[in-house]
Amino acid sequence: MLVGCPAEIKPQEYRVGLTPAAAQELVRAGQEVLVQTGAGAGSGFEDAQYMQAGATLAETAAEVFARADMIVKVKEPQAVERKQLRAGQVLFTYLHLAPDPEQTRDLLDSGVTAIAYETVTDRAGGLPLLAPMSEVAGRLAPQMGAWTLQKANGGRGVLMGGVPGVGPANVVVIGGGVVGTHAARIAAGMGADVTVLDLSLPRLRYLDDMFSQHFRTGYASAARTAELVAQADMVIGAVLVPGAAAPKLLSRAQLADMKPGAVLVDVAIDQGGCFETSRATTHADPIYVVDGIMHYCVANMPGAVARTSTIALGNATMPFMLALANKGWRQACADDPHLLAGVNTHAGHLTYGAVGKALGLDVMAPEAALKTA
Ligand SMILES: NC(=O)c1ccc[n+]([C@@H]2O[C@H](COP(=O)([O-])OP(=O)(O)OC[C@H]3O[C@@H](n4cnc5c(N)ncnc54)[C@H](O)[C@@H]3O)[C@@H](O)[C@H]2O)c1
Repeated sequence: MLVGCPAEIKPQEYRVGLTPAAAQELVRAGQEVLVQTGAGAGSGFEDAQYMQAGATLAETAAEVFARADMIVKVKEPQAVERKQLRAGQVLFTYLHLAPDPEQTRDLLDSGVTAIAYETVTDRAGGLPLLAPMSEVAGRLAPQMGAWTLQKANGGRGVLMGGVPGVGPANVVVIGGGVVGTHAARIAAGMGADVTVLDLSLPRLRYLDDMFSQHFRTGYASAARTAELVAQADMVIGAVLVPGAAAPKLLSRAQLADMKPGAVLVDVAIDQGGCFETSRATTHADPIYVVDGIMHYCVANMPGAVARTSTIALGNATMPFMLALANKGWRQACADDPHLLAGVNTHAGHLTYGAVGKALGLDVMAPEAALKTA
C-alpha cells in the first residue's frame, strides 16, 4: 500500500499526520510512504528524517492525494483537499462530521472510505485516539493558567507553588476525566493546592485511590462548586457530556464572588465551554477579561506544543495505521470492531449513527459497508 501524508493547511495547525518513526514502521512492514516536502517542519521533523526512514518526498499535496492508497492527516480535510479524494482511497484523520454537513456531503460524494480518529474505540469504552490530545490539553492547562495568573498578564499575581511562609495557589478542576486528571497532576506538581470536582462517584473513587497524596476530590454539586470557585485563584473547566454541548457550570453573576484577577481556563471550549462567559480564543490572542476575571479559552490547545502533540498522536495512531496498511481497511476493520467504529463514510454511504442523527441522513451499518464494493 502507498501511504501518503500531505502537509496540514488549516491555519495555525503545526502538527503532521505521520512522524518519521511511523514512516519507518510502515516501510519496515513493506509499505511505501510518500510525504509532502516540509510536512513535518511545524513539528520539528525535517524532510531528511523522512527520507532516512525510507519515505519518498512529494513536491505537492496534489501528488500525495493523487498517488496514495491511504491518506494520513491530523485535521479534517479542507474543501480543496476534499476535491482530491476518491473512491477506493482510505482517509485516516480527525473528522468531527456531526456539526459539519458540508464536509460530510463532500466525503460522501467523493466515495472515500473515511476513518475518523475520534470515533475509534477501545476495550475500556474509551476513545484512544482522542485521549492523547486530552492528555496534552490537560497538562498544558495549569501551565497556561499559571502564566495568566502573573500580574503583567492581568492575573492576581499569585505563584502556583507559593514560597516558604506564603501559601500556594488554590486550583479547582471541574471534571475529573482525562483532561481533569492530567491538569490536576500538573497543578499539584507545581505545588498548588488542588481540588478536583466530578459528578461521577466511581470516577471520584478512582481519583481518590490513585492521587489522594496529591489532590483532594469533591462532588460537583452546584453549591459545592460555587463555594470552591469563590476561593480559587484558578478554575480549570474539563467536563464532557459525550455528544452534547458542555453544561454551563459557572454563571456571569458568579464572577462577582471570585477573587479579582483569578483565572478561568476553559478546556471544554471546543464543546462550547462550561463557563457562561467563555468564548473561543486562539493562540495568537488567547486571553480576555470579563468583570475582572481572566479567561483563557483556546479551542485547539495541543497546537501550542505541536511537537509533543504530533508524537503523542503518532504513538496512538500507529497500531491502527499499520493494521490498515498491512491488511487493507476491510480486513483490518473486520478483525477489530474498535477500528470499525472509526469508519464514518464508505463508497458514498454514511456509516456512523451519531452523524446521521445529527445531520438527518440515512446510515448504513459499518458491518454492511464491509461487504459492499
Ligand atoms: N481545548 C482543547 O484544546 C481541548 C483538547 C482536548 C480536549 N478538550 C475537551 O476537554 C473536555 C474534557 O475532555 P476529557 O477527554 O477529559 O473527557 P472525559 O470524558 O475523560 O472527562 C469528562 C469528565 O467530566 C465529568 N462531568 C460531566 N459533567 C460534569 C459536571 N456537570 N460537573 C462535573 N463533572 C462533570 C465526567 O464525569 C467525566 O469524568 C472535552 O470537552 C474535550 O473535547 C479540549
